[in-house]
Amino acid sequence: MSLIAPESVEIRLGERSYQILIGSGLLGDARHFATVPAAASALIVTNTTVAPLYAAALRSALAGRYREVHVLELPDGEAHKDWPTLNLIFDALLARGADRKTVLFALGGGVVGDMTGFAAASYMRGVPFVQVPTTLLAQVDSSVGGKTAINHPLGKNMIGAFYQPQLVLCDLATLATLPPRELSAGLAEVIKYGPIYDMDFLAWIEDHIDALVGREPAALAHAVRRSCEIKAEVVGQDEREAGLRAILNFGHTFGHAIESGLGYGEWLHGEAVGCGMVMAAHLSQRLGGIDAAFVERLTALVRRAGLPVVAPALGAERYLELMRIDKKSEAGEIRFVVLDRPGSAVVRSAPDAMVREVLAQCVGA
Ligand code: NAD
Ligand code: GLY
Repeated sequence: MSLIAPESVEIRLGERSYQILIGSGLLGDARHFATVPAAASALIVTNTTVAPLYAAALRSALAGRYREVHVLELPDGEAHKDWPTLNLIFDALLARGADRKTVLFALGGGVVGDMTGFAAASYMRGVPFVQVPTTLLAQVDSSVGGKTAINHPLGKNMIGAFYQPQLVLCDLATLATLPPRELSAGLAEVIKYGPIYDMDFLAWIEDHIDALVGREPAALAHAVRRSCEIKAEVVGQDEREAGLRAILNFGHTFGHAIESGLGYGEWLHGEAVGCGMVMAAHLSQRLGGIDAAFVERLTALVRRAGLPVVAPALGAERYLELMRIDKKSEAGEIRFVVLDRPGSAVVRSAPDAMVREVLAQCVGA
């Protein structure tokens, strides 16, 4: 049973609209799944870390709605966000005779959510799926908006599809078991929404960063709700990233280079994004959008969230090479999300010489 009534944020996408439910103790409560399509079977896709914690509760909540509820445990980690692991989902669906109405439930962080979404988009050309995100990062970002993908050794999230879930259910109680490093990684994506979209939210995060790091329930609930509201507003205007949605990738061009340059899983995605935001802020300053004081303000907040602010030494040429393999690149030209003023972001190219200066400033010894 839910401890408190969930709050709801709607993501408005015409016939693909859905609700994000946010509350504590939701995933074991069958009532919250009443809007999800009924079918003969459901497959909970999770991983070896999350399954022992939450799969039984979700399974029993779904038991009254689906005759068969199976659980598939994937290996854990960003390094497994790949073809062989994706294939395990298809193997499980086919082996169990899943049909076009079978509903997939993604129970876990962004890795499980992105892979399950991609499997749902492509199994029999599309079956319904539900996101049950259990990391802060997944609750504030990856479970919302329908981006699904796996990594390629040459580039992050390069193989995927836009495919919206039927429901996102953010159970805040699951955050209690999250390791501190993962909580900080999620805070990177929370912080992101401030400089690109909402300066009031940035000020609120600054005031509550210690409460967030300390997992104070009311602070986490507000951070998840406001992040989901902003993401819903942005995605509602630009589902397929024709323009505006790209601002959600603030810090990600540098961040993805760090992740693939070091090898997936070495730095957490959120850690790379945190440091990437500091780098993108320096680039924004050089392009004239913000001043040094704002760069320092953002850097201080990223640091207080427990995130790295000094980038790993991959070599400038390697950074440039990796950043050219980015979905925003056009004709080999790297395009960055930069701040044109505090609270507003745009996509721009920058001269390689300027990017080298930023790398010289931000990369550690
Ligand atoms: P993750 O999925 O690897 O989860 C982090 C770790 O926490 C894992 O070891 C996981 O097993 C564990 N875990 C999950 N829930 C837990 C819980 N409640 N208690 C204890 N442990 C738990 O990482 P993430 O940070 O959630 O997601 C990162 C991924 O999300 C990246 O692959 C990134 O590319 C993707 N992403 C996608 C989007 C999108 O729009 N689709 C947006 C941002 C990030
Ligand atoms: N995380 C970026 C997006 O959803 O567009």
